This record gives sequence, C-alpha cells and structure tokens, in this order.
Amino acid sequence: MTRLLRIDASARTSRSLTRALADNFTQIWRRRRPQDEIGLRDVGSNPPPIITEDWIAAAFAKGRSPDQEQLLALSDELIAEVASADIIVMATPMYNYGMPAALKAWFDQVVRVDKTFTFDLARGDAPLDPVFAGKTLTLLTSWGEFGFAPGELNEGRDSLTPHVRTASRYLGVEAFHHVGVEYQEFGDERFEASREAAFAALDPLVDTLVSALELRSDPRRSAA
Ligand SMILES: Cc1cc2nc3c(=O)[nH]c(=O)nc-3n(C[C@H](O)[C@H](O)[C@H](O)COP(=O)(O)O)c2cc1C
Repeated sequence: MTRLLRIDASARTSRSLTRALADNFTQIWRRRRPQDEIGLRDVGSNPPPIITEDWIAAAFAKGRSPDQEQLLALSDELIAEVASADIIVMATPMYNYGMPAALKAWFDQVVRVDKTFTFDLARGDAPLDPVFAGKTLTLLTSWGEFGFAPGELNEGRDSLTPHVRTASRYLGVEAFHHVGVEYQEFGDERFEASREAAFAALDPLVDTLVSALELRSDPRRSAA
C-alpha cells in the first residue's frame, strides 16, 4: 500500500482553487488505486504555531524535560505523517509572492535536526543531510498574477515554488512535480484557459506517478 499525504494551505475553505485541484487529484488517485491511504493535514484551516525560542531550545536539547517533550509533540506528529508518506500532495496559494505563513510554520515544525535531517561538520561545507529519501512531491498552486517563468513578465518574483522545492529536500523528496493555475485575479479567458489546463494536467500526472510507483515495486516492467 502506498501512502499519500495531502497538505492544504489555503486560508479559504470555500472557492479555493488549490483545494479544488487537490480534491480532483485525490479523486483521480482513488479511482486508480483505491487500496492506497490518503491522509490530510489542513494547515490553512488549522495553522501550526510559529516556532519560538523555547521550541528551538527543545529541538536541540539532548535530554529533554517533560515540558520540552510537550512543546515538540505537534512537531513529532507532523514529522510522523511525513515519514510514513510516499507521496506528498501540497496544495498552496501564493501569498505575497511566497508561501502562506501557515505552510511556512508547518515546514518549520517538520524540518528538525536529528528527525528529518542530520548535521555533521565532518561533511565539510554541506553538513546537512536528509534522513528520509525516495519521496515524491506534487505541488498544486494558484496565483492571481501570471508569467513567473524565465523570460516572462514576473520572472524572478516567484518565491513560492523554489522555496518549497528547496525545503522539501529535508522531507526526503527526490521527485518534484508542479501544476498551477495563473491569472486568478484577472478572471478573464486567460484564467479560464489556465484553470482548464491545470485540471486537465492532473490525469496524466497521476498516470506518471502511478507508473513510477509500479516500476519501483516491479522493476521488470521497465523492460516492457
Ligand atoms: C493574502 C493574499 C496574498 C496574495 N498574494 C499574491 C501574490 O503575491 N501574487 C499573486 O500572484 N497572487 C497573490 N494572491 C492571489 C492568490 O494567490 C490567488 O487568489 C489564489 O487563487 C489563492 O488560492 P486559493 O484559491 O486556493 O485560495 C494573494 C491572495 C491573498 C488572499
């Protein structure tokens, strides 16, 4: 059985495009692989707390007090969800050119020394090493503006996609896919076309992910 972890980061629970993309993705997945488990962590509706000085001290403490254990309890729970997931489906809007604060709070709770990465100066200038490996992340986004790709109008202004991509290395992510809607704030025919293309991309994306899974569980298929 494969485990998916869906993370919703939109503050909107109604009319959210990213939640609709994630709904669609999981429906397609369930049709293809009903045996798989799909967990949900809704940080948009229920944001994790921002980490504090006490939280950092607890995370780095060698022997922890009961209070420190308590302070890390949610972090432990969120990390366990990531640890058991093979595929992470992260649905997030762009807010102020980056990720919503709730999603950043989730990353800060999850990316933790000796839990999701180890730190060793014996590794020279690259002392951080992820603990988990082999996970796939599908990023489902929506933004009000458009044209964040190289050579386009808003080139260099997308701090959401590269940030998720970089930080997800410490979730054990080795394969990254992205489907996004643009032009939401314009509400014109470009938006309609972008939305249609994004939803249409989900079926082939699930196909790609399922094929990769099946190949991994039975490498003889690659000979076909
Ligand atoms: C607080 C806030 C900040 C936003 N900042 C940006 C932005 O910087 N760039 C952009 O292209 N769209 C921005 N948007 C538009 C959202 O990305 C867009 O509405 C998206 O569809 C929201 O996702 P949702 O439909 O899943 O809620 C912002 C929206 C909100 C509510």
